[in-house]
Amino acid sequence: MSAVPMNFESQPLDMNLWSQNHLARVEQALSQWVGDGAPAGLGDAMRYAVLDGGKRLRPLLVLAAYEAVCSGAPASAVVDDAALRAGLDEAALRAACAVELIHAYSLVHDDMPCMDNDVLRRGKPTVHVQFGEAQALLAGDALQAFAFELLTPDNTLIPAATQATLCRLLARAAGSAGMAGGQAIDLASVGVALTEDQLRQMHRLKTGALLQGSVLMGAACGHAVGEAYQALSDYGAAMGLAFQVVDDILDVVADSATLGKTAGKDAAADKPTYVSLLGLARAQAYAQELLAEAHAALARSGLPDTRALAALADMVVRRSH
Ligand code: IPE
Ligand code: IPE
Ligand code: MG
Ligand code: MG
Ligand code: MG
Repeated sequence: MSAVPMNFESQPLDMNLWSQNHLARVEQALSQWVGDGAPAGLGDAMRYAVLDGGKRLRPLLVLAAYEAVCSGAPASAVVDDAALRAGLDEAALRAACAVELIHAYSLVHDDMPCMDNDVLRRGKPTVHVQFGEAQALLAGDALQAFAFELLTPDNTLIPAATQATLCRLLARAAGSAGMAGGQAIDLASVGVALTEDQLRQMHRLKTGALLQGSVLMGAACGHAVGEAYQALSDYGAAMGLAFQVVDDILDVVADSATLGKTAGKDAAADKPTYVSLLGLARAQAYAQELLAEAHAALARSGLPDTRALAALADMVVRRSH
């Protein structure tokens, strides 16, 4: 960390290289941690659900937010204490993996016959198709529990207060005020004509909360406070909602091979989506509006280097799968 503030934003970031480096760390950590020792085939189902697939957007958001906050830390602050910095680095990697475990569990359950009844996920048969419903249910349960175990390692590197904050943020994003609550609304809304406000609320909870939570967890690892934390929270809210708007759009415009999951499911299941409510063109325009909001939030964060977060928001809206 340089003591002289640099104008990072004027320099282009090699996002491919950035992603490659960060993805490699996440994949290696997930592969090392997940499913090791789980009995009676449960470990196989857990590893199948988590490894070899997925964009890993949530882990990348955790790491990008963490680095953005560290870029703004004064040279005299935590970053100069090597032991503390190592602890925070480890916390960020654990948070990145923990949020992906919650996401993977949510997909396993989302695909089950009692929810969306999908047979294809990440280009492979869904977990319940491959391992049976009971094992899929348990794999989801175990992944959720393991996420919190990952956040609370039995070592002294990561301050206890940071561990507790990360658990609280993840629990809130995943629970009834977040993903699980949103999924309940989703299931209760089949065939229902939601208002735009109701649809926004459903999407904010079922998908936005975990994406925003990823950003907040990264920010918490870097001990972000005040305006920077609030701006990152606003960024996460806008980008997280944009993500599900685009998921709705892709369900209509993309094919199953590209998506790695069955296309056209929302209309077939009579789910309210941004496309069914606004039509394709207005849904696309809304995603662009949210992207602009996300960028505006980064601009007011006061952080010197938010290039990776900016690029990830662009990816969320411009992605093809
Ligand atoms: C799909 O999420 C489920 C939603 C929340 C809409 P992703 O599109 O991030 O899925 P993976 O992780 O890349 O498979
Ligand atoms: C799922 O939303 C959100 C979750 C919490 C898993 P969708 O049902 O639209 O996700 P996909 O399209 O199956 O990935
Ligand atoms: Mg669903
Ligand atoms: Mg689904
Ligand atoms: Mg979808």
